[in-house]
Amino acid sequence: MKELNLNQKDREWVDSTWQKFCEKMEVSAKRNADNIPYSVTKDGKFDTRGIDEPNWWTNGVWPALMWLMYVGTDNEMYKEIAQNAEDKLDRALEYPEKLSHDVSFLWNISSGVNYRLTGNIKSKRRWSIAAALMAGRYNTEGGFIRAWEAAPTESRAGYTIIDCLMNIPILYRAAKELGEPQYEYIAKHQADKTIEDHLRGDGSVVHIADHDLLDGHVIRTLGGQGYGVGSSWSRGQAWGIYGFMLSYIYTGEEKYLNAAKQIAHYFIASVCDDYLPKCDFRSPKEPVIYDSTAGAIAVCGLIEIARVVPEYEKSLYLNAAMNILKAMEAKFCNWDKEKDGILHFGTELYGEKSTHNIFIIYGDLFFAEALLKLKNVDFLLW
Ligand code: GLY
Repeated sequence: MKELNLNQKDREWVDSTWQKFCEKMEVSAKRNADNIPYSVTKDGKFDTRGIDEPNWWTNGVWPALMWLMYVGTDNEMYKEIAQNAEDKLDRALEYPEKLSHDVSFLWNISSGVNYRLTGNIKSKRRWSIAAALMAGRYNTEGGFIRAWEAAPTESRAGYTIIDCLMNIPILYRAAKELGEPQYEYIAKHQADKTIEDHLRGDGSVVHIADHDLLDGHVIRTLGGQGYGVGSSWSRGQAWGIYGFMLSYIYTGEEKYLNAAKQIAHYFIASVCDDYLPKCDFRSPKEPVIYDSTAGAIAVCGLIEIARVVPEYEKSLYLNAAMNILKAMEAKFCNWDKEKDGILHFGTELYGEKSTHNIFIIYGDLFFAEALLKLKNVDFLLW
């Protein structure tokens, strides 16, 4: 891993923010040692969504966050909580019809990390099953990975979503680790198809593309979790930046770095007024709906770009990453230890008011990941 050279002021800011993050997380993790949280309820405590809904797509995030804390602090408590949560994920396999491409979000960053760090064989099995389930979603005729399971009113068999870029790293890793080279071919086909069908000329990305099942051409695009057709859902843009960077990290293929850079330029231009990401960059000015999760994910991608580009390009990406992170820390972070959740003002989707400007667990995950990257901790979660 190429180390980043932060100036002293930024290094101090990163260290003190990480310190605050650790102090609060230690208390919150103890309080939730037997839980799999998703969001924060009205009393300021985490909900139990992961326990109540075993197949919920973010259920791997809590163990992943605990693994990051373990890597960043060496505190065994986090390892135990991560393993405890991982055991609970087995219940999701009882409902295979409810599994989507997020099998990777469930098991790559929980069991996959456990196996990598401890050699745990049970975790290896879980992770291998997840990789096989992921590969099984590939439509060989259309040349794409099906994102979601069927909805009550439509099959969604032709849907690809930009988010899938975060799910294909399990295939790159498993291809090597399990001796299954076809997994890598599938991952690369998906990344290429995402460039073709999701990346617009101006660097923004489409959330959902619906394909013909037999020849893979795009029938229509949908606004998905953003404002509408043709809009630009900020978390989707962020998945694009970090997701293409992960494909670049695993393959070394320049086209993925270039795709990530293109989306990064669009993202930076869209937030440069105050560095606080709105939920959709092409939505009406009012109401103001933020999505801090988009900011945290994008920052992780921007840092990875900054690591690999030539010296003369670096500051564009690193400065943007620092500006977004600092602006979000100042406006969005809650450091009160009596309450759960650190990064406030996340938004699930544009349309439903109740999902706007809330705490979402992956906001904390990517915020922590960004801080560890800036501290040059050599650990890739994905
Ligand atoms: N991958 C689902 C989401 O970003 O909401």
